[in-house]
Amino acid sequence: MTIKLAFANQKGGVGKSALILQTAYYAAQKKLKVLVIDMDGKGNLSTKIATRQQIEQLPKRFTCSVNLFDPNLEKITVLNCKYGIDLIPSRINDQQLYTQEKAPLNTIINPHNNLAIFAQNYDLVIIDCPSSLGNLFLAGIVAADKIIMPLQISSFVVDSLSGLFEVVEKLQKIGKKDLEIAGILINSFNARNKQQHQAIKKLREKLGNLMMETVIANRSTIDKATNQAKPIWKIRSGAARLASLELTEAIEEIFERTGVNNERN
Ligand SMILES: Nc1ncnc2c1ncn2[C@@H]1O[C@H](COP(=O)(O)OP(=O)(O)OP(=O)(O)O)[C@@H](O)[C@H]1O
Ligand SMILES: [Mg+2]
Repeated sequence: MTIKLAFANQKGGVGKSALILQTAYYAAQKKLKVLVIDMDGKGNLSTKIATRQQIEQLPKRFTCSVNLFDPNLEKITVLNCKYGIDLIPSRINDQQLYTQEKAPLNTIINPHNNLAIFAQNYDLVIIDCPSSLGNLFLAGIVAADKIIMPLQISSFVVDSLSGLFEVVEKLQKIGKKDLEIAGILINSFNARNKQQHQAIKKLREKLGNLMMETVIANRSTIDKATNQAKPIWKIRSGAARLASLELTEAIEEIFERTGVNNERN
């Protein structure tokens, strides 16, 4: 069975792309067939799953995420990347993709439709949504079955949560009945900050099981792994080991919550 996961939060810099990168590496290591789709016109994640050079040199006709909005898309090509991960990329600062934000709202269903059959080639499809509540964000979550929301404790937590909750509720009402938020993942947690502990406690009281048990701390090795586009477990240091344990535990929990079968071999 194919599981389609969107990582979404309208707030930027909360770790969506960094966590997708490690989740894709982990799934690939477990021999799952993984497709990553970059719905963010910055193209950040694309340059990490593939290389910057590959993204800069993409042929004109290559299927990029913008092409998924084409109502008559005939063929999808994917970029075969390191560790066997496939990618439907975004070009770097893809102006054409950004213009989708101004397209009629009904176009947000096109990526879902174009991927419906193609996605069946994969065990896991992961979609990176941009930080907004616009068409690209909506198209990303409409193409998915489940949403993981990375969340950083800040003064804007309540707005981020209500933004996503409202959108999901609306989509459920207009036909996307099975769409669900599968987990809220606290990222970049600062264990030495008392207020952050209190904020998490409050969130757990309010949101119960929606909150993932695993919490990811702010660790410089996670940023290093992103920069170097490397699985964190391949970085050799004591600090990396700790970060690796925490991340893999979080990814295992994501898989458990979303029904990804990682026992395949
Ligand atoms: N737990 C962490 N500890 C330290 N650095 C982190 C952690 N999680 C993410 N980062 C780093 O924080 C930066 C922002 O993360 P990332 O780009 O993944 O956020 P994003 O939500 O995708 O942002 P955007 O919405 O702008 O695309 C990156 O440099 C990433 O490596
Ligand atoms: Mg990102």
